[in-house]
Amino acid sequence: MNLNLLEFKDKISLAKELFTPFFKGEFECFASPLKHFRTRAELSFYHDEKNLNYAMFDKNTKKKYCLESLEFADIKINDLMKRLLKPLNENTNLKEKLFGVEFLATKKELSVTLLYHKNVDLISKDLANLSKNLNLNLIARSRGKKLVFGKENLLQELEILGDFFFYEFNNDCFIQPNTFINEKMISWVLQGIKEDKKADLLELYCGYGNFTLPLARHFNKVLATEISKENIRFALKNCELNSISNINFARLSSAELCEALEKKREFKRLKHLNLDEFDFSHILVDPPRIGLDEQVLRLASRYENIVYISCNPQSLKENLKTLSKSHKIAKFALFDQFALTPHLECGVFLRKITQ
Ligand SMILES: C[S@@+](CC[C@H](N)C(=O)[O-])C[C@H]1O[C@@H](n2cnc3c(N)ncnc32)[C@H](O)[C@@H]1O
Repeated sequence: MNLNLLEFKDKISLAKELFTPFFKGEFECFASPLKHFRTRAELSFYHDEKNLNYAMFDKNTKKKYCLESLEFADIKINDLMKRLLKPLNENTNLKEKLFGVEFLATKKELSVTLLYHKNVDLISKDLANLSKNLNLNLIARSRGKKLVFGKENLLQELEILGDFFFYEFNNDCFIQPNTFINEKMISWVLQGIKEDKKADLLELYCGYGNFTLPLARHFNKVLATEISKENIRFALKNCELNSISNINFARLSSAELCEALEKKREFKRLKHLNLDEFDFSHILVDPPRIGLDEQVLRLASRYENIVYISCNPQSLKENLKTLSKSHKIAKFALFDQFALTPHLECGVFLRKITQ
């Protein structure tokens, strides 16, 4: 199967070439293990005359590939893939109209979501038995329905520079898919701010608090924002889980946050906060692939220190054209978060240019 395999060393060369106009220093490079590094996997089911098979489709050729295991996925996912197929094949109720499966693993836990083209209520007993027999956190979904057997929310424990942080999330949250690299990224950010003069932190695209929790103890106060209700629900939970009390999470899109900070619009969701009381020394952004729009770039340019985590080198490059007018790149890291694919995660520290 052509998965557009690109080795990390090739991605590093491409990135160095891409960012030459902006950065002449040493890139810090973080390689990933090449087996069992992915904690999330989505597969289709292919029904032949007799049986169900796990399958993947090549995006370009639409060709189907049946497979029994995924070497890049977490060992727990591989183990479950083997154990799950037999009981599904042996039960017509479970097998019929089953079209997809999503696996989610943390260091210690695992859940599986089965996707059906029929009402899952009709097979709830079979699903309950499957969950019980395999001792499995099982979620079954069909249009407008979701059944949960066992735990839907999983617990993750990250070790960041010798400290432990606990996170709860589920399959509906945004999740960095490579835990080994995720720990490296958060640690790199913490190391990078170590010597800085720090006041308050502004974070956009904060998810369930992945970076926010470890960063919080290094700042006086944190305002962390995110568009997804589900992510914010978990972010608040995760604050409690880690007994952290200096973070204010708010469900705001990046555009709404800009409007609030520019005093163009008032939000009920911010009524408990006085935005004038914040003194942001750092802004951290970790946007989706599209990168930052003009409004957010304008906002980021105001602050002394910008930490930019990017999953798309192309949009990062576009954004750096603007940010490098007011800021200089102090550190640049490349993380092989998406090993064995052409994708690359970057981290950039920018410091305001003093006139
Ligand atoms: C690349 S993820 C990063 C999440 C988090 N920093 C982490 O490490 O898990 C981007 C996040 O931005 C959120 N998002 C997408 N569009 C947004 C927008 N317009 N405004 C605010 N958040 C947005 C997504 O829900 C997602 O959680």
